[in-house]
Amino acid sequence: SDPLKVAVAGLGTVGAATVRLLQEQADLIALRCGRPVVVTAVSARSRDKDRGVDLSALTWYDDPVVMARDADADVVCELIGGSEGAAKEVVETAIARGCHVVTANKALLSNHGPALAAAAEAKGVVLAYEAAVAGGIPVIKTLREGLAGNHIKSVCGILNGTCNYILTVMRATGRDFADVLADAQALGYAEADPTFDVEGIDAAHKLSILASLAFGTKVDLSKVHIEGIRHISAVDIQFAEELGYRIKLLGIARQTDHGIEQRVHPCMVPVTAPVATVDDVFNAVVIEGDFVGRSVAVGRGAGAGPTASAVAADVLDIAAGRASAFTFGVPAGQLAELSDWSMEQ
Ligand code: HSE
Repeated sequence: SDPLKVAVAGLGTVGAATVRLLQEQADLIALRCGRPVVVTAVSARSRDKDRGVDLSALTWYDDPVVMARDADADVVCELIGGSEGAAKEVVETAIARGCHVVTANKALLSNHGPALAAAAEAKGVVLAYEAAVAGGIPVIKTLREGLAGNHIKSVCGILNGTCNYILTVMRATGRDFADVLADAQALGYAEADPTFDVEGIDAAHKLSILASLAFGTKVDLSKVHIEGIRHISAVDIQFAEELGYRIKLLGIARQTDHGIEQRVHPCMVPVTAPVATVDDVFNAVVIEGDFVGRSVAVGRGAGAGPTASAVAADVLDIAAGRASAFTFGVPAGQLAELSDWSMEQ
């Protein structure tokens, strides 16, 4: 049958790995989808850079928005990043034209999720974003499909690989924060602006998306209490250790008697807790549902391979015709408003 044609906007760490995966695993993917998946077009800032992937047969666009509008494609992968500007325009343009969209962009979905979901659903196209949260853990699918028969009570976890890497290395070596952050950047874990990682904003983006899926509410970043890890020193980590605790940056979203609580901050976690031993760039997600009870998943939360793996899963779902029509698990028009919640309540 007809191949699914894919255009990729953005060839940074994630974009280049996605093109490489779709090319190298082409046979496996065709077998699993019942049809081939081919990358037809790409767009990035510099045409000459060596990205370790063969782009010679692909149509090159200097402008990703022009690509989203004109490329010979059924799916546009938005792997540029950022909640405004080119990334947002690429997604809006692709949807308006009737193309499916796959994105890894948590900032975009956290800031504009409900409107984009409504636009995609009105057009009858898929807006998929498995790669936006906890890279190698298929948590979007888990919440939206795997646990769809449950009322979710809470979703918690380690949602930023960069912070977890920094805290792990600081604990193991006593090295200081700025130094270890530079390593996380070199490894391709950190955001283009690492402030988003260390201030807890990236984890908050992801938590707000998980909360929407879990509770059927509109994604609303302004309802998340956010605190980062910048003020944590190697000595804090050492003292916590002596008391039997690890310091982890956690995201916590739960149903309470006075509404949905969403917060991101460093926590003292007993060394015996499941998330305490989740180290390095790994993320962990702990979900409580009324019938399933507690479910825990661990996997790499950042980096080229795990993120490209998640992007590919979404592309495969679209190719096989099994992608979810409801971006956040319920029709966009039926997502509830979040009520106010404050830490003081
Ligand atoms: N900067 C993010 C992290 C990338 O470190 O978790 C994955 O979303």
